Amino acid sequence: MSQTAVADIGLIGLAVMGENLALNIADHGFKVAVYNRTTAVMKKFMEREKPPGGLVACETVKELVAAVKRPRKFIILVKAGAAIDAVTKELIDAGVEKDDIVADCGNSLWTDTIRRERDYAAKCKFFGSGVSGGELGARFGPSLMPGGDPESWKHLKPIWEAIAAKIDPKTGKPIEDYAPGKPVKGGVPCTAYIGPNGAGHYVKMVHNGIEYIDMQLIGEAYWLMTNLLGMKPPELSKVFGQWNQGDLDSYLIQITADILQQKDPVHPQDYLVDHILDAAGQKGTGKWTSTNALDMGIPANAIAEAVFARCLSALKEERVEASKTLKGPDPAYKGNRDELVSAIRDALYCSKICAYAQGFQLMREAQKEYKWTLNFAEIAAIWRGGCIIRARFLQKIMDAYGRNPNLVNLLLDPYFNEQITKAQTNWRKVVSLSATNGIAAPAFMSALAYYDGYRSARLPANLLQAQRDYFGAHTYERADSPRGKFFHLDWPEPKRPQIDIQPGSGGGH
Ligand code: 6PG
Repeated sequence: MSQTAVADIGLIGLAVMGENLALNIADHGFKVAVYNRTTAVMKKFMEREKPPGGLVACETVKELVAAVKRPRKFIILVKAGAAIDAVTKELIDAGVEKDDIVADCGNSLWTDTIRRERDYAAKCKFFGSGVSGGELGARFGPSLMPGGDPESWKHLKPIWEAIAAKIDPKTGKPIEDYAPGKPVKGGVPCTAYIGPNGAGHYVKMVHNGIEYIDMQLIGEAYWLMTNLLGMKPPELSKVFGQWNQGDLDSYLIQITADILQQKDPVHPQDYLVDHILDAAGQKGTGKWTSTNALDMGIPANAIAEAVFARCLSALKEERVEASKTLKGPDPAYKGNRDELVSAIRDALYCSKICAYAQGFQLMREAQKEYKWTLNFAEIAAIWRGGCIIRARFLQKIMDAYGRNPNLVNLLLDPYFNEQITKAQTNWRKVVSLSATNGIAAPAFMSALAYYDGYRSARLPANLLQAQRDYFGAHTYERADSPRGKFFHLDWPEPKRPQIDIQPGSGGGH
């Protein structure tokens, strides 16, 4: 079938995200040409969906390229990795030209995006955009984190701004009344140009690292209330529902309240959560965030802890065996229930502040490394709606960076400083209770260690430096000398232990 160029954009990959994004774009009056490697998938989609903006069915990549108006714009939504290169090459072979824009909207590694932009520069404008919000976000308004050539952004912007989640400028809250065919009118779109080459995918990766720790912290709160207070899912659901009315108001808290009321389809008298195996999966974006933090020397320990907590949970069979022999205290809390519930809330809030402080600290370092100029207030603003970590709290982060765009650490902002000052007694109480009762709460603990470490003018690294110098002449700086001046001591010879060898004690002849 020959195609005339009628579509505003082409989309490749009609899995869950691709389908929903295509419908969202079409709902906003743009014509989308769609292609999927397995044609039957595309045909089924076309039969099922008839959005007002219209879809153009394409059975080959050549048809897809021919169907899009110039400068052509394409969205790739296929599995991150080699498939992105394969599809980009197919597009180039099918006639994509130097000024055409190929936007990878998957969870690609930002260094791959940097490499791809460079490698394909002579053939097309390769662009990387983070997309968050899962299936519903893609359909009714995701948060979009575009990164790449600023000229290409000008062409993508009208579509990105139309399809993104919208914030009510008066309340700072997402507008959530988008129904199929009836998109939201007005509002501030949850998208903004992040920066060149891999900046968009980098920021999306940090979003996911924060998503990991947010989820882990909620899990720990649930687990402490279950084990210390014997609370059951419906009661816990109510607590999370209440927390969702205050500072912790967020998508992840809201879905936790929903999840905890869900009955099990197999044992209808039980709650589903009690029948789900406690072994977490992961696709790797949390690990990338942590690896990058290690590479750049940024203490994103709570984010990494959330990744390790998933790894530990995945060792299910090993843990079951270990539980038979490794002993610890049995949980026994005799105090007031409501007091502990609100202490756990405070612990969650303080830990969350630290987690975001780490994520933003990481981005701050990355912009130096990659020569980006990231706008942190804007990043917080576009995370207020559409994405998985959307939360009321992000308005506060936006305000903090609005007050001081060069804020060194979120903890130093007066608002967050005050919040932690008010709530930290409870946070410490929860961390000590989890330790004395033998309940693993690694993210609460790790976040507190970060807070206490960060606010310490002195740490024991002096001793560590002495040890390094002692055994390896690695040198140390002195507290009473300018930074950068290194010293070494010829440490006195260690006394080696004398070993008395008694005649006849060895295995002689
Ligand atoms: C989003 C999510 C999404 C992510 C899933 C699963 O922002 O919409 O971050 O991109 O892929 O949440 O991630 P894990 O399998 O690693 O938990």
